[in-house]
Amino acid sequence: MLLASRRFVFITGKGGVGKTTVTAAIATALGARGKRVLIAMCGAHERLSSMLETPPIDHDIVSVAENVWATKIDPQRAMQEYGEIVIKVRAIARVVFENKYTHGFFRAVPGLHDWAMLGKAWWHTTETIDGAPRFDLVLFDAPSTGHGLDMLRVPKVILDIVPPGVLRRDAESAWQLFHDPARSGVVVVSLPEDMPASETIELVGALKSELDLPLAGVVVNALLTPLFREPEREALLADGALFELAKSGRVDRDATLAAAARRAAREQIQARNVARLESELGVGLTILPYLLGEAGTPGGIRELARRFEP
Ligand SMILES: Nc1ncnc2c1ncn2[C@@H]1O[C@H](COP(=O)(O)OP(=O)(O)OP(=O)(O)O)[C@@H](O)[C@H]1O
Ligand SMILES: [Mg+2]
Repeated sequence: MLLASRRFVFITGKGGVGKTTVTAAIATALGARGKRVLIAMCGAHERLSSMLETPPIDHDIVSVAENVWATKIDPQRAMQEYGEIVIKVRAIARVVFENKYTHGFFRAVPGLHDWAMLGKAWWHTTETIDGAPRFDLVLFDAPSTGHGLDMLRVPKVILDIVPPGVLRRDAESAWQLFHDPARSGVVVVSLPEDMPASETIELVGALKSELDLPLAGVVVNALLTPLFREPEREALLADGALFELAKSGRVDRDATLAAAARRAAREQIQARNVARLESELGVGLTILPYLLGEAGTPGGIRELARRFEP
């Protein structure tokens, strides 16, 4: 997965598939190679700080690992801050945002709420210190509701409906950046199971056809390391009685074999879905192992980060 040369990467996938874990692993891998990475995340309950064992992360940008910084984007605050950036004068911005009529107006622009978050994350790509970019790459850990695809539609909505001005100018720059495969891309996180794999195939289809956004890569997360080879799996699953016992969870003298059959069934599902993703997506997959009990620790994140090294 080629990420090191990009400026903005959007990490998406269904709730709970491991977006934040993958974001942390990618950031750790790139940070170790000298890239300055900012993780921008949404959502009320951030888990990144517990994964990296840092103090809780709020809106202030804080250092969380070597060359890695993080910030939590709160939509309400982002609206206000963004308003201040757009309107320039803080006092005026406060009047505008605290006025219930204009507040209502801003809320009425479809997707403006989403744009405040995505736009704020994008804005960090434009920040400079002494003329050099403050961050080489912004990793956007998208919210878990839906696909996060709705959020990617927003700059386009703004281009379509908002009259020329600062808001529109930014949306235009962001839209251009998001469409440039040399500078940005979407990483889709999936699991080696039937439903998540199907949803990933749909999501990648929509990215290509509807949004025309560059796909930077697909991550298959939490793959159980196979214990059995294919012929062994077939042998274990060939015995119908054993398989029924495996499904029933009853324990008797065949319990060990039944457990093996259950595991073999699971491995077969995984293998089938990895093969399906490979053939349908036409893009290299990054496969991350299932880490028992330690994925959410700094050691686990470092272990996963190794899979993102070139
Ligand atoms: N490779 C893995 N092996 C084992 N456990 C994992 C792995 N990846 C993620 N997990 C665990 O799965 C849970 C969900 O992971 P994570 O918080 O990264 O998902 P998410 O997609 O960001 O969730 P949300 O949609 O709620 O933001 C966490 O407890 C995490 O430690
Ligand atoms: Mg998350």
